[in-house]
Amino acid sequence: MSQDSAKLRPKDPLVAIRGFEDLLPATAARHAHVENIARAVFLRYGYREIRTPILEPTELFARSAGEASDVVVHKQMYTFQDPGQRSNTLRPEGTAGVVRALVEHNVLHQTPLQKLWYIGPMFRYERPQKGRLRQFHQIGVEAFGTTSPEQDAEIIALCRDLLRDLGFQQLTVKINSLGDRDDRLQYNAQLRERILETTQNAAHQNPEPPAWVHDWQRLAQLNPMRVFDTKDPLAHPYLKELPRISTCLGPAASQHHQRVCNALDALEISYEQDPDLVRGLDYYNRTVFEIVQGNIGAQSAILGGGRYDGLVEELGGPAVPGVGMAIGLERLLLSMDAAQLLPAETQLLPPPDDFVVCFDEEALPTAFLLAQQGRQVGRRVHFEPIPRKPKAALREAARSQAKRALILGTNELATATVQIKNLVTGEQKALPLYQAFESALE
Ligand code: HAM
Repeated sequence: MSQDSAKLRPKDPLVAIRGFEDLLPATAARHAHVENIARAVFLRYGYREIRTPILEPTELFARSAGEASDVVVHKQMYTFQDPGQRSNTLRPEGTAGVVRALVEHNVLHQTPLQKLWYIGPMFRYERPQKGRLRQFHQIGVEAFGTTSPEQDAEIIALCRDLLRDLGFQQLTVKINSLGDRDDRLQYNAQLRERILETTQNAAHQNPEPPAWVHDWQRLAQLNPMRVFDTKDPLAHPYLKELPRISTCLGPAASQHHQRVCNALDALEISYEQDPDLVRGLDYYNRTVFEIVQGNIGAQSAILGGGRYDGLVEELGGPAVPGVGMAIGLERLLLSMDAAQLLPAETQLLPPPDDFVVCFDEEALPTAFLLAQQGRQVGRRVHFEPIPRKPKAALREAARSQAKRALILGTNELATATVQIKNLVTGEQKALPLYQAFESALE
């Protein structure tokens, strides 16, 4: 028995795990609203859905995320041994699983150009706060098979269209280039040296070296660029002493970046060059981008993505390049809420057309058949198999915002009729049972 369960008495109510949220119907409807709009955009862009398991071999993420990534450095992975003693991990992100699936099923050998999308829960053992959960949902897209800058631009344009269809007016894309492998080798050597100089100076100035000094020295060895993602405000002033990757971009990566920017200009997508944008996962090269919203608290990136030309090969597949992005659904919803872009619940969950109201137990079987009859002709019919007092029943029907109440009691049962009350006008009339929906359809 675990420590937690030992503390509980048998009838104590159980609560969800910290950082894991229930999506009650009103919230689930908001998720579905975004998902439906996203599906329509993906269809317009010719992306097809892929679904991969939420549990994968740990090795997949250890290899793809990179040893300097947040998920590895900050031990964010939900990893456990299954009963067969295999180490499995709940996916912290979607890209690696998609690549694994395409490699496993040989898809990229047959058709290297693949455009895919996915929606699903991801898991990261992070400290929960507003906009940061341990189980959260991503909507992502991945495009494989081309190094063309226009493919990067297409993904950013797709993000713009999706956010526009959700109601956002103005959002700025932050964009950077992380260059190619050789650019980064040269840059990392320079950066590593400067990090070591900077941290040594900072350590000399302080009797007790601040925590970030140790972190930076470790990152200098693992992946020096990750220092730009430093959260510690004490370290921020020292960032200006470091060189940026833009000074080391080779001609190929520079031209690529320029063409991405030209395409965004042509589409009038506003973007900001952000030389400090490095992303939390290690598999990126060339283009990286994020869309950030200031109004949702500290966790402000609603989506992020970029190019990952080496990842498929790294995971045992052919040398097929890729680029993609993922939106954090919870953060997107926070942002939509703040901007008042979420339709009212009644618009997300349309009210019933008819509410079948039943006064007596003996009328229940007929009421049930009546409700079914309405559903068969395509109406939304609400039926509660509980006899209620007339006043309470009608109050319930009004609360549901149905257009009509179909009322059945012993009198109606005896005459094979139903009372139909128009809940908008208050008008009421009796009709033979079999005509209950004919009049509604007129
Ligand atoms: P990511 O930046 O790690 O990228 O995650 C994408 C988005 O997921 C973030 O911008 C954020 O909105 C959301 N997110 C991440 N962690 C949390 C959390 N703990 N709670 C709530 N939301 C969170 C990726 O995952 C890449 N796979 C994206 C990608 C696809 N790159 C190329 N293709």
